[in-house]
Order: sequence, then structure tokens, then C-alpha cells
Amino acid sequence: MRVFESEDGESRLIPLDFGAPFSLPNGLAEFEVVEHEGESDERVDTDWWGYLRSLLGDEVVDAGGESWPSSHEFFGDMMIVRLDEEVSEHSREIATAKLLSHPHIRLVLSDRGVLGELRIRDLNPIGARSGDEIVLDDIPDDISSTRVMVRESGRSILCDPTRAYFSTKLQSERLETLALAKELRSLLGRPLRVCDPFCGVGPALATLLGEPDLVGDVLASDLNPDAVEMLLDNLRRWDRREYPAEPSPISRLYEDRIAGLADASELQHDTNLAGRWDMLLVNLPHRTIEILPSLVPLLDRTGPSMVRGRVIAAEADIHEADRAIRHVLPPRLEGMPEPSLRIKRDYSSTLRLCSFEAWIAPAP
Ligand SMILES: C[S@@+](CC[C@H](N)C(=O)[O-])C[C@H]1O[C@@H](n2cnc3c(N)ncnc32)[C@H](O)[C@@H]1O
Repeated sequence: MRVFESEDGESRLIPLDFGAPFSLPNGLAEFEVVEHEGESDERVDTDWWGYLRSLLGDEVVDAGGESWPSSHEFFGDMMIVRLDEEVSEHSREIATAKLLSHPHIRLVLSDRGVLGELRIRDLNPIGARSGDEIVLDDIPDDISSTRVMVRESGRSILCDPTRAYFSTKLQSERLETLALAKELRSLLGRPLRVCDPFCGVGPALATLLGEPDLVGDVLASDLNPDAVEMLLDNLRRWDRREYPAEPSPISRLYEDRIAGLADASELQHDTNLAGRWDMLLVNLPHRTIEILPSLVPLLDRTGPSMVRGRVIAAEADIHEADRAIRHVLPPRLEGMPEPSLRIKRDYSSTLRLCSFEAWIAPAP
């Protein structure tokens, strides 16, 4: 990432390294730390191409054309790249060039896709850094671990993409959810009761809990025991109190915290959980519309509430999906826009990842 100007032109934003301390040391402490999507540093990209060319020669690199993994995803001190079949035989040189051009990266993994309902990633280590050395074969366990801390919203989020879903690309989505939550809090005039029944390791909660007096009670649950194990570790640090080390079925752990393993569609049947939440997060984009009816009973309908969700849909089907969402949700709050899908990015050549929010009116 590179240094760039803030939107108001008043400041220069300097990217912080993953390893930067949460409280900046003396001399820097006067500067505010803000959350902002980064802007990539093209010089680093130039370096990666330079290293690749010196390792493979111009002819091979030019022959690979668009197939080289020019983009990548950072996960703490790991980098994930997608290897096109056409260039996969050069994975050693790709890993070496990436490690040389990104001196803070410990491990480079190739992405072999997402597995099943739990959305965990199939990742294969293709290179690592051990001190000053680059290791490409028999990468030792201590440097090939995929359990990492990611920094976001001034918090550290423990995650392991091979055991539980987590996407660093959703940071701007989470900031949008934060802005909506603040609006809802203004409307209700009190901290929100937030229900995140597909919470994964809890990144949406990290952002919301980071805002003083925004959140009161929290329900955080997921079907994946590994995700819940990391969620509990995260909550322990964010809340600064004890949480169980092992995942167990959903239960009340504190007066204001309910967490654990659960199938989201079953929560409605628990009278202690139904009808209690101001903000419902629905992050199961392949199945949101189908599962929404089983989640609506969780909303507290004695006042205004909100559903914030993500949906994967073909661009041509977006209007139909909007209609389906409006159909399954209770009547909306007067004066607020109707829920409609906004395209956030491409999911595939035909499918789009979209998000929406719905302001729900109190039941008459
Ligand atoms: C797209 S991920 C979102 C995770 C998290 N909210 C985030 O933003 O990182 C969907 C999550 O839903 C969980 N999941 C899938 N089906 C579920 C179900 N029926 N009930 C509860 N969780 C489920 C998966 O394990 C996964 O962690």
C-alpha cells in the first residue's frame, strides 16, 4: 500500500504494517489511526514483475500473458494467489518473486477454491520465508501455519482461512454496516442488540464493538466449530474477559453475550432468542433469500429494526431478487428506502456479490 491524501485534503494517510503496535509509540502517538481502504503501491508490482523476469526470462513471462497472478490477497503476513493452470508449473518462481517483492510476507499460498457450506479455503503453501532464506520445499510447520492475526478496525482478528471463512475484502462492507448501525442507534436512542447468526470468526462484530456505546447485547453463532473456537478467542480479546476455549452449542455466556454453535434457521424456535434483536446480519450470500423467512422471527418488532444482508445473484436477476427480499421481509419503516441490492463486485463472469439493508417497521 502507498501513502495517499485523505478525501478532505487535510491529511496524508500512511499505511500501517501488520506488525505495527496498536498504540503508536511516542513521537507518533499524536497522529490519529483511521480505517480506510488501502491504495496499492504500483512500485511493488513493478518489483514483482522484475523478479519474475530475472528468474524465468522475458520469453517465458511474455508467453504467460494475462495468466500470471498479478493480484493477490493479504492475510496478516500471508499472501494468497490464484494460479492459472497455464503458469502453475512456475509456482516456485512465482512464490520467490512474490516473497522478494514483499519483504513482510512470511508465507505464499496458492488458492484452490472454496469448500462446501462452511466456505473454508483449500490453500497450498508454495513458498515461505525463514529468516533471510526463501524456502520452497518441505516448508517447516512453524512457518507454514495459516492461523494468523489480521488487523482491522483497530482490533486484531484471529482467523485461519483453511478452517473458517474470512475475507479481508469485506472491510468496506463492514464499515458500511457500521454507518448503518450508527443510524439505527440514533433512531432507537440506545445501544443496539446485534444478532450475527453466520458470524464466522466475528469480523462484523469486531467493527461494531469497536464503536463506543454502539452495541449492547450480542448473539454470535455459526455452524462451524472451528469458526466458533476462533470467535471465542477474538471475543476474549475484544471484550477483555474470559470465554471458553472450546466451542459448544449456543448459550448465554454473559448477561450481554450469547455465543456458540448453532444452525441459524433453528434459532427462531428458542423463545429466549426470538423477538430480541434490533440488527440482524445475514452473511450467507448463496442462500440469503431462502433462509430469510426463518430469521425474521429473531427481530424485535416492538420498535424499528434492521436486516443487513449479502446476496449473490446474476445481474439479470437482481430485480427479481429485490422483489423476493421485499416479499419475505415484514413491512418497512415509512420514509426509508425499500431494500434493493447494490452490486459490490463480480463473483464470477455472470454472478454479482450484492448487499442490501432493510429498515423494518414495528409490528402494528
Ligand atoms: C460467508 S461466511 C460469513 C462469515 C462471517 N460473517 C464473515 O463475514 O466473515 C458464512 C458463514 O455461515 C456459516 N454457516 C453456513 N450455514 C450455516 C447455518 N445454517 N447456520 C449457521 N451458520 C452457517 C459458515 O460456517 C460461514 O462461517
